Amino acid sequence: MAPTGRADALVMFGATGDLARKKLFPALYHVSHRRRLEMPIVAVSRSAWSDEELRNYARAAITEAVPEADEATLVQLLSRVTMVAGEYTETATYQQLAECLTACRLPVHYLAIPPALFDDVISGLAAVGLNERSRVVVEKPFGRDLASAQELNIIIHRHFNENAVFRIDHYLGKESVEDLLVFRFANTLLEPVWNRRYVASVQITMAESFGVEGRGAFYDEVGTIRDVIQNHLLQVLALLAMEPPVSNDATGLRDEIVRVLRTIPRIAPADIVRGQYQGYLSEKGVSSGSRTETYAAVRLRLDSWRWAGVPFVIRAGKAMAATATEALVEFQAPPRLLFAEDQYSPHANVIRFRLGHNDGVTIQMQAKQPGPRMTAREVEFNVDFAEALGRRQEAYERLLDDALDGHTARFAREDTIEQQWRIVSGVLDGAQTPIHHYAKGTWGPEQAAQLLPGHGWHEPITR
Ligand code: BG6
Repeated sequence: MAPTGRADALVMFGATGDLARKKLFPALYHVSHRRRLEMPIVAVSRSAWSDEELRNYARAAITEAVPEADEATLVQLLSRVTMVAGEYTETATYQQLAECLTACRLPVHYLAIPPALFDDVISGLAAVGLNERSRVVVEKPFGRDLASAQELNIIIHRHFNENAVFRIDHYLGKESVEDLLVFRFANTLLEPVWNRRYVASVQITMAESFGVEGRGAFYDEVGTIRDVIQNHLLQVLALLAMEPPVSNDATGLRDEIVRVLRTIPRIAPADIVRGQYQGYLSEKGVSSGSRTETYAAVRLRLDSWRWAGVPFVIRAGKAMAATATEALVEFQAPPRLLFAEDQYSPHANVIRFRLGHNDGVTIQMQAKQPGPRMTAREVEFNVDFAEALGRRQEAYERLLDDALDGHTARFAREDTIEQQWRIVSGVLDGAQTPIHHYAKGTWGPEQAAQLLPGHGWHEPITR
């Protein structure tokens, strides 16, 4: 059983990799800047780098992501970083690591490595007894399907208790995603209408205007459903649809997330539209004739008293018309259209939660059009969180700090991940459904409209 409280060492497996460069080193800088990382940082990698080489790499990664980085913080942070170079299959690597950690009571091991290596690292840590006093943070993807996720859980649980395991889904670390909970459960205004009587549809869009960007070989093995729908977007859906948690702690929250996921039947092949952008096949690393989807739209059913009959749809894609992530709740139209005119009939109310770069909330309502006639026009009530609330921490910064504290609420529990794999299990095999080609810079295949007959997708706000 790992000790509780704040960790006193951070170990990064995969420290010379892409994720470390783009996300982890900048996050380390921010946590250091708040003086919350006064501990040794041991980088483990198969690359035979010296301490100096790694420090230069980390410095470059930080200054690229945080140009305003403060020199004194940087120097202090880098002076704490040391390197252990070695194969993940060799016990010698872990013996060397254990020596670096002799004075530490509670290390956190961050596994920024491909899942195929988890078994070696978990067993290696256990071989030198480090599992008994450590926490382990594991990056996505957590498996390729339900069976492989269950297998990974077995491997990890052989040597670590569930409360020492921190599975990353960085969407859970986003302030804007957590706001879904606060918006719903710290206000009473929405609760009476947050159900099948008033909600017509729930639409989640994650559009990225760029393609696979040098990650072709990785992405081709994964595709949109595994990359972002199974994890990030099903978490967003769960926060929108769940019941109020019975308590404000990690268990209360995670129990409700699992409960709402359990109400969702497996997605049927008739409820998915898969797409691939034109030009994907010429991306580096993509296999010839690949049928991997770079776009997917799915329709889900929630069999619950609150949501029965309300379509929940999710779509995500690369090379789309814009970059925007939005969760949108569309309400029923008013029963009688009193204020229509020739070219305009009042639209249904919509609440948009912007979860991407310009995060905030927009509520669309109808107001009286100025002039002699009694007609309506749409107006927007808009709040931009950065403007209203100031700087918000990056997801990785918060997640790293939480793992060091041992706070599990912003990490995916074993049963949540397994439920998410169950939900997508019927549509993971791309051979069963057609793949539609779409032009880059569009909103994806038009066939996606079939998933929402009578409603239509709302494009996200992109300004
Ligand atoms: C990652 C996916 O998990 O999330 C990427 O692998 C995707 O393909 C990224 O681009 C999006 O994250 P964010 O925070 O930019 O929305």
